[in-house]
Amino acid sequence: MAPSTLTELAGKETLQASFVRDEDERPKVAYNQFSDEIPVISLAGINDVGENRAEICQKIVEACENWGIFQVVDHGVDTKLISEMTGLAREFFALPAEDKLRFNMSGGKKGGFIVSSHLQGETVQDWREIVTYFSYPIKSRDYSRWPDMPEGWIEVTKEYSDKLMGLACKLLEVLSEAMGLEKEALSKACVEMDQKVVVNFYPKCPQPDLTLGLKRHTDPGTITLLLQDQVGGLQATRDNGNTWITVQPVEGAFVVNLGDHGHYLSNGRFKNADHQAVVNSDCSRLSIATFQNPAPDATVYPLKIREGEKPILEEPITFSEMYRRKMSKDLELAMLKKLAK
Ligand code: SIN
Ligand code: FE2
Repeated sequence: MAPSTLTELAGKETLQASFVRDEDERPKVAYNQFSDEIPVISLAGINDVGENRAEICQKIVEACENWGIFQVVDHGVDTKLISEMTGLAREFFALPAEDKLRFNMSGGKKGGFIVSSHLQGETVQDWREIVTYFSYPIKSRDYSRWPDMPEGWIEVTKEYSDKLMGLACKLLEVLSEAMGLEKEALSKACVEMDQKVVVNFYPKCPQPDLTLGLKRHTDPGTITLLLQDQVGGLQATRDNGNTWITVQPVEGAFVVNLGDHGHYLSNGRFKNADHQAVVNSDCSRLSIATFQNPAPDATVYPLKIREGEKPILEEPITFSEMYRRKMSKDLELAMLKKLAK
């Protein structure tokens, strides 16, 4: 049974059984055992023509090839906007349960508040509360699903979405050039880019070693821009997915990760980063993920196949078909796991 909110379970001494993960899925590395291996790239000079831009592009290309995940600083998004956004988000999650539940997303509603999500076919719950909204294309904005409290939320989230769309477009231009294509190639491949924002709140957890805030996954879309606080908890993998590392939080930075769509468009040259979020018993954590996805009927197929390479997809498919296949594979894996028990 899902609790009405996680806040009511956070003060208990033991973890409710529905959150306990199988041993192989439990955290291997602590939330605050930071690694600085993930590249941190300054975008200062990205709008110049010439050497500066070329150098930044080169760093981004290497990060995408080696990790599929990197952090950006000097990205041009105002620090005041960032702190307003995170401040309001924290205020939202601190509201009494009944206020948050007014935006409950159950029953097929597009956007709102969710407690303890879990993947399709899975029964183990994630230790997180989220609030999510669809911000692009503009016509998908349903403000009745955006919390109307705390005061200022709608205005600030709108501005945040717009600024992040600008930053995402800049990064997609670099990635296009990195693939040897014209600047607009990736955004054209998205047809009309979708943007969805998910604000994650991970309360203190009584037994964090037994559970996850968010299970291991790759994002389905083109790129994701993640803002995290200084607590730590985002983990990525190296050594072909065999070693976990905790990403060192960098004040004001965005973590950029490539999703499945980005991976296919680059014919597998850019990694789609495997990642997860772990939780802790010391303090709560906040992160804001902005997912930049192609339109549902955009084509998924490598944009450029280099000499000697074979396309990693046999034939072009739509993004919604790609997503459907991913979901049914996840479902199948979850079923197999249940059967094996
Ligand atoms: C996500 O993968 O969407 C969120 C990860 C995090 O909270 O660090
Ligand atoms: Fe993710």
